[in-house]
Amino acid sequence: MIIALNHKSNFTKDEILNYLEDYKKLNTYNHEMILIPSVCYLPLIPDNITYGTEDVSSMDMGAYTGEVTAKAIKSLEAKYTLINHSERTTKMNENLDVSKKKLEQAFSNDLIPIICIGDTKKEHESGKYVDKIKKDMDYLLSDIDKSKDFIIAYEPIFAIGTGLVPTNLDIEKVTTMLKDEYQKKVLYGGSANENNIDELKRVKNIDGFLLGGISLKLPSLQEFLDKLQ
Ligand code: PGA
Repeated sequence: MIIALNHKSNFTKDEILNYLEDYKKLNTYNHEMILIPSVCYLPLIPDNITYGTEDVSSMDMGAYTGEVTAKAIKSLEAKYTLINHSERTTKMNENLDVSKKKLEQAFSNDLIPIICIGDTKKEHESGKYVDKIKKDMDYLLSDIDKSKDFIIAYEPIFAIGTGLVPTNLDIEKVTTMLKDEYQKKVLYGGSANENNIDELKRVKNIDGFLLGGISLKLPSLQEFLDKLQ
């Protein structure tokens, strides 16, 4: 399975160096691990670890103070980038048009996008969330060659960092639609942890997990991997 670790805006330099020391000792059971730290720490990551970024600029190189371009990220040998994470859309007010530009930047610089897509609690409860997610995905992918390499992460917005996880059946409705429609690997993300992995690993049509909170705590992550195997 693919296990992507989204560190978000956590860790100082010393903290990530300690983390990387302990990370070497993790038993990952041949899962495909993707480390996604703050972009400033990319140069600290050893060559044998696959890594990506949490975000990418919507702009090409140029006079855009503060932006980190896909070209710069690629030159640091990152392989992946998250696109459309709900913390960008809800907390940084980025809309689907911005995410779409970021997606195009990722593709044109040979980064593999992990496209995050999700529903709000209200959308979930309305029962129309599968259609809404398809609509957002189709918008993001309009005019884009669907045969390009990308991964999709279904992340219900209300599940991120809250401990609220939808039922397996609800998750499967989305992961099954995503796999049928786009023929790509599909991850689940949103409060997945060592306490609910026994249940979550039974979700059908899933190729891995995007982990936030638990990715910072290596003993918990080890327990998660031991139970997932
Ligand atoms: P969480 O975050 O595991 O802390 O809910 C997941 C994510 O934001 O990708």
